[in-house]
Amino acid sequence: WLDRVQLLETVVSTQEEAKKLAESGAPQGTTVRAEEQTGGRGRMGRKWHSPRGKGIWMSVVLRPELPLSLTPQLTLLAGVAVCLAIREVTGVQAGIKWPNDLLAGGRKICGILLESSLREGRLHYAIAGIGIAANLTEEDYPPDLQGIGTSLLIEGGGIPVDRSALTAAVLTELEYLYLVYREQGFAPIRELWESMSVTLGRQVGFNTPQGRCEGTAVGLDDNGGLLLKDGTGSVISVLSGEIEMI
Ligand code: BTN
Repeated sequence: WLDRVQLLETVVSTQEEAKKLAESGAPQGTTVRAEEQTGGRGRMGRKWHSPRGKGIWMSVVLRPELPLSLTPQLTLLAGVAVCLAIREVTGVQAGIKWPNDLLAGGRKICGILLESSLREGRLHYAIAGIGIAANLTEEDYPPDLQGIGTSLLIEGGGIPVDRSALTAAVLTELEYLYLVYREQGFAPIRELWESMSVTLGRQVGFNTPQGRCEGTAVGLDDNGGLLLKDGTGSVISVLSGEIEMI
């Protein structure tokens, strides 16, 4: 997929650019990266701060032949790929907070947004949006994100990250894990995810329309949902949304 990367200057969001390419038939692995996003998007309708030249803001076209119910597995796969690439290229020991936020030093270093496009009720393509805070300094964060976001520069003791090298490593891992996933299914991906998770074994909480739930994170279910054991010993599965580690 390394020969399928386009580097653009300023875009609203690389998600939209990758979607346009996917709609016009671009092959799997086609990637759009931008130096700056003016309307970067995060999960759950949030904005994604994407200052010029400081991060890796990229979107990858995937064309999996998968039932829709299994797309959360792809989200986890993307998190594992980026986590491996970050550890390899920078030595920063990033960990994964379910489903696929990458944390370092307890703060967020990377976010992933997987968006699916349907055709006739089936998955047509998916766009994996990856935002890595590579070379941001504390001052590059707006006040509301200070203390929440960190960067590879900050966590790596001030050594700037070669963004092209990290982009290449992310794509290499993504392509490789995708192949493993197609050949061997989710089990090896789940194992890697669990080994890099900072969520498992922790007490977590989340809000539902019915009220708040809390429990210990004990594993992943087959769809990539997070299994929580509550005080009474019963296990529930969280399929999407946001959890807090308590
Ligand atoms: C999150 O943690 O909420 C997900 C953030 C995803 C950000 C990336 S940056 C590249 C791509 N383009 C976007 O507009 N969003 C994703």
